[in-house]
Amino acid sequence: MEFVVDLGRSSYQVTVGCGLLTAIGRLARDAGLSPNRCALVTDANVGRLYADVVLQSLRREGFDAALIEIAPGEPSKSFPVLQTIYQRLADAELDRESTVFALGGGVVGDLAGFAAATYLRGIALVQVPTSMIAQVDSALGGKTGVNLKDAKNLIGAFYQPRLVIADVDTLESLPEREFREGLAEVIKYGAIMDEGFLDWLEREMQLILERHPERLVSMVERSLRHKAAVVSRDEREEGLRKILNFGHTLGHALEASTSYGNYLHGEAVAIGMASAARLSTKYQGLKVEEAERLCQLLEAMGLMTVLPPGWLSTEFIRALRLDKKRRGDKVEFVLLDRLGHAVTHKLTFDQIIAGAEAPLN
Ligand SMILES: NC(=O)c1ccc[n+]([C@@H]2O[C@H](COP(=O)([O-])OP(=O)(O)OC[C@H]3O[C@@H](n4cnc5c(N)ncnc54)[C@H](O)[C@@H]3O)[C@@H](O)[C@H]2O)c1
Ligand SMILES: [Zn+2]
Repeated sequence: MEFVVDLGRSSYQVTVGCGLLTAIGRLARDAGLSPNRCALVTDANVGRLYADVVLQSLRREGFDAALIEIAPGEPSKSFPVLQTIYQRLADAELDRESTVFALGGGVVGDLAGFAAATYLRGIALVQVPTSMIAQVDSALGGKTGVNLKDAKNLIGAFYQPRLVIADVDTLESLPEREFREGLAEVIKYGAIMDEGFLDWLEREMQLILERHPERLVSMVERSLRHKAAVVSRDEREEGLRKILNFGHTLGHALEASTSYGNYLHGEAVAIGMASAARLSTKYQGLKVEEAERLCQLLEAMGLMTVLPPGWLSTEFIRALRLDKKRRGDKVEFVLLDRLGHAVTHKLTFDQIIAGAEAPLN
């Protein structure tokens, strides 16, 4: 299936389905990208599994792709690796008509996206997400960038892709933990904007966890449609887009206070969403049963919903104080007034800390 992300002149098509890797060349041609010198950026894990089939698909349609493979993992989202990518793009003689294809998880998408945004002041970018986080979240929306030492995503650009191609078949090879953490972002869309999606996730849970291809297509599509709806109304996070940060304020603080070592991003966000649901019962009238329902769904997907012992460390508070959404001694928090509807609400640090792990009744 396909749909369009409506951003005026920067609108682009999103295709979600099975067996799409072999169709990348044709989809790129159909989108008007010129068959020319181009680059396929991927990481070693994903490249080993999928680079050949993508290269063949591109070649069949006349795209002459240079393969650029980086080491897997977050440390690659850095200036030194970015610089090697620029050099490889130059060595392969990419020009203004060329395209960068980003094949991989969020790390490859953010890094190759930023390279495409800045090389020759911007060349075409196609996102081919292969992890759950990338398929339901990072590949769409145009946020690209790199980390600066410990400051995540400090350097970046809004740069929209020309095409997003999510082949759910690639999720088959994703390790179980990475698969489940991505489900946290899926549940997030239900919590903030679509209660019916939560009903569906509850009903289809077993087949989703078994990675039933049809269910994955429906799930990825519905997630991306929700993200597209938000992004097309607020491309640069000036208002509405903030609701996508549900669960992320405490999630980020938890990640940062554990030096990004204990939790995968989605795992920390799951705990952050459960805590935000508790705060929502206190400050936005979310029903206790609704907060419980959200926590139960997260737990059924194999995610944690309680803050770990000792969570309130000085590092945690420091991370919370560094939050981009802080204004004075308050943080603009995303809460739910009911399941399927998010609101922003300014909370003091004391309110957050007291309410984040308070029991539900
Ligand atoms: N731009 C955005 O809007 C946005 C949104 C959310 C997250 N992000 C960024 O995304 C990154 C996290 O993304 P991620 O979780 O995909 O991390 P990742 O790219 O590091 O991928 C996770 C791991 O899974 C492997 N992998 C990916 N696809 C696979 C597949 N199909 N089969 C087997 N292994 C596979 C990767 O090699 C890697 O080891 C972070 O840097 C985060 O900041 C960006
Ligand atoms: Zn996230």
